[in-house]
Amino acid sequence: MLASPFASRTLALARGREPVVALTGAGVSAESGLATFRGADGLWNGRDPADLATPEAFARDPHLVWRFYDWRRRKARAARPNAAHLALAALERQRGAMRVVTQNVDGLHQRAGSASVLSLHGTLWRLRCTAENREFDDERADLGVLPLRCECGGLLRPAVVWFGEPLDPAVLAEAEHAVRTAALVLVVGTSSMVVPAASLAPIARRAGAWIVEINPDRTPLTRHADEHVTGRAGDLLPRLVAAAGFDVEVA
Ligand code: OAD
Repeated sequence: MLASPFASRTLALARGREPVVALTGAGVSAESGLATFRGADGLWNGRDPADLATPEAFARDPHLVWRFYDWRRRKARAARPNAAHLALAALERQRGAMRVVTQNVDGLHQRAGSASVLSLHGTLWRLRCTAENREFDDERADLGVLPLRCECGGLLRPAVVWFGEPLDPAVLAEAEHAVRTAALVLVVGTSSMVVPAASLAPIARRAGAWIVEINPDRTPLTRHADEHVTGRAGDLLPRLVAAAGFDVEVA
């Protein structure tokens, strides 16, 4: 077995009883075949988020925005949780006192078995009526004619957070509480460029948490982290879980 690339403090905290938070981003789902946003193969490379992920874009062209989200739903449905999602779920099941706070809307943490997921940016699998402000789950494979309409005649939209929109204040407050009370925060697969999600690790650090970044690249957080481990989440998270003394896969 390969030696652990993690600091002994990281392993001790992962093994211990104090709360752990995993802050995750699109990089965690990259090994499931879902594109990240930034970088050469990113969804925003060659596309302007202002055309696809803002309330103004939806008001202008709901059909275009819905085609983008329908495509993302199809990709997410066809994807499977990877070793990174499974390792976080296994860690939560065995140690308890753990939350996953994700920017991802693909539902793969939940499908891997993580029970404590806070979805900062909402989910692809929930819709909101723009006329009634009512939300409901919708996991259909085929959405039919786009843009979707509610029974009331109003336009339906994905219940995700778009650029320029606030996060659900209750979800954000819960995430801030989770990081303020965590002893160890794993920041995995995020470029740490989008606020308020990117402000959670600094909040945790100020509150005294040990911050470990897992990413193949450096980010604006890197120099503020206690440890940066360079590599892929699907490789490193199972190694972290195993080195902390837990089983990597727990059904
Ligand atoms: P980004 O695309 O900005 O960043 C993905 C990060 O994952 C990068 O730092 C990559 O280096 C890293 N990465 C790539 N492959 C990886 C792997 N196998 N293991 C670990 N890390 C890997 O995605 P986010 O930070 O999630 O918001 O983006 C944040 C928000 O910006 C998204 O939620 C979305 C986007 O626009 C909205 O749509 C509102």
